[in-house]
Amino acid sequence: MDVVVRPDPAACGRAVADAVAGALAAAAGRPVNLGLATGSSPVPAYAELVRRRRDEGLSFRAARAFLLDEYLGLPAGHPESYRRVIRRELTDHLDIDPGEVHAPDGARAHPAAAAADYERLLAAAGPIDVQVLGIGTNGHIGFNEPGSPRDSGTRVATLTERTRLDNARFFGRLDDVPRHVLTQGLRTITAARRVVLVATGPGKRAAVAAAVDGPVTTAVPASVLQEHPHCTLVLDRDAAAGLTRTVPAGVVSGPSRAGGDYR
Ligand code: GLP
Repeated sequence: MDVVVRPDPAACGRAVADAVAGALAAAAGRPVNLGLATGSSPVPAYAELVRRRRDEGLSFRAARAFLLDEYLGLPAGHPESYRRVIRRELTDHLDIDPGEVHAPDGARAHPAAAAADYERLLAAAGPIDVQVLGIGTNGHIGFNEPGSPRDSGTRVATLTERTRLDNARFFGRLDDVPRHVLTQGLRTITAARRVVLVATGPGKRAAVAAAVDGPVTTAVPASVLQEHPHCTLVLDRDAAAGLTRTVPAGVVSGPSRAGGDYR
């Protein structure tokens, strides 16, 4: 696990955008599978990718996008459904084929069948080239809450009250936050060739410290990324401030050890 610390969320966003742009540049004509997270943490990265598309001509024509997760039980077209969120924040502003923006289908009558179909879709598409991740305040990734099985695939899951409270800001009322979701599993997520997790702000400090410096345990789902062969955590100073073992608090590190591709 490589940890890089940047001064602020915008600089973190540029580092994440570099990883995505690097995968697109390396494509050489083949499709590029981008794994996309929702939530607020990747928003600066997505804004930077939209800017590079607009100002620098970065092309996403080769890209296929796969979301991590989706709420169950939202009415069709709800503005907080992750499919709608990713279109609004990112893909509507890119030259990606809209038919290549995929998400688990939270509106299906049979959610378990929707989960199985999504897992099959991912398997057929081949490995994710770059998986962008955020982290929940309880260490969750995707919607894999503490205690999620290490060997899990895409499935129906139940949110913790912690996560529902955290996400209530998007819905206005806690009662409106769904209790159930579809999420890629920890096995699905860690099958990506490269993982880039972005965390910013003091609210993520404890989760980041547990994921990076603590033991590998499904009690802190993000800690399983310690075992991934090519995983980078991009942190701002606030999110990094609880690290004691891996990076001294507040230090802005040099180029990434894993290839020097962060500037
Ligand atoms: C949600 C998403 C996660 C995201 C997390 C953190 O639960 N399912 O993918 O990482 O929220 O969100 P934020 O970045 O808004 O703190």
